[in-house]
Amino acid sequence: MTKAISIRDLCRTFETPAGPVSALSHISLDVEKGAFVTLLGASGAGKSTLLRCLNGLVSPSSGSVFVGGLSVAVPEELKTIREKTGMIFQQYNLVRRLSVLQNVLCGRLAHCGTISSVLRFFPEQDVALARHCLERVGLADKADSRADRLSGGQQQRVGIARALAQQPEIILADEPVSSLDPRSARHVLQILRTINEQDGITVIVSLHNMQLAKEFGTRVLGMKDGALVFDSTMEAIDRDMLHALYGEVPDEQ
Ligand SMILES: Nc1ncnc2c1ncn2[C@@H]1O[C@H](COP(=O)(O)OP(=O)(O)OP(=O)(O)O)[C@@H](O)[C@H]1O
Ligand SMILES: [Mg+2]
Repeated sequence: MTKAISIRDLCRTFETPAGPVSALSHISLDVEKGAFVTLLGASGAGKSTLLRCLNGLVSPSSGSVFVGGLSVAVPEELKTIREKTGMIFQQYNLVRRLSVLQNVLCGRLAHCGTISSVLRFFPEQDVALARHCLERVGLADKADSRADRLSGGQQQRVGIARALAQQPEIILADEPVSSLDPRSARHVLQILRTINEQDGITVIVSLHNMQLAKEFGTRVLGMKDGALVFDSTMEAIDRDMLHALYGEVPDEQ
């Protein structure tokens, strides 16, 4: 069966005034369809770069990246990968002055063309789908509110609804809860888990908070200095492994 993600010997180097920086170093990795994977690692470990390589926002210096059996290096295949990949961001990336519903409809852009086509001429079935996605994240009653009137946790749930409206096979979430209080963070992660379990959507989420990773991660990838240093179940992670990631093991939050 095709893997959700298959990465072989992926390297990415950035040229900087101070010299080349190796952001990803010889990463090989397979993720099964329907998995819920958390990425852990200190600042600069390469988590965002790895996630960006999965949807072509960053191109590999060498090695291969396949998503759903398609290569990010082939432009037509990358287009399909982007249609099938929902992105969730730390700062939500909503269009602040648009309504919640219009933001969720932006998730249809990958399928429907330009933003004006979505906002002016959106088909009835897309509106119904967007409303359904808002129901699933518990925000049906906020459909007509301006996006920037919502709390951070609510805005991130709109971000999830927007990703869902795309009807993705994979959701990539780069530190989706780092700006949220613990209660809102758990709520957002619980919604991602439910989507993963009910819809079989593969979810890759980078997290800073290890306690949350313990609660929600099923498979945990540890990154340090651009390399994958462990690939484990959360139960099997011990202090030595965390020490390898962070130097000192941070206090549980
Ligand atoms: N566009 C870029 N140009 C130059 N260097 C970059 C660029 N993007 C990332 N890097 C470098 O690559 C390394 C990995 O960065 P990355 O953002 O992937 O780490 P991260 O694990 O997401 O960190 P954080 O937890 O702070 O978000 C860092 O040393 C970073 O400075
Ligand atoms: Mg990052």
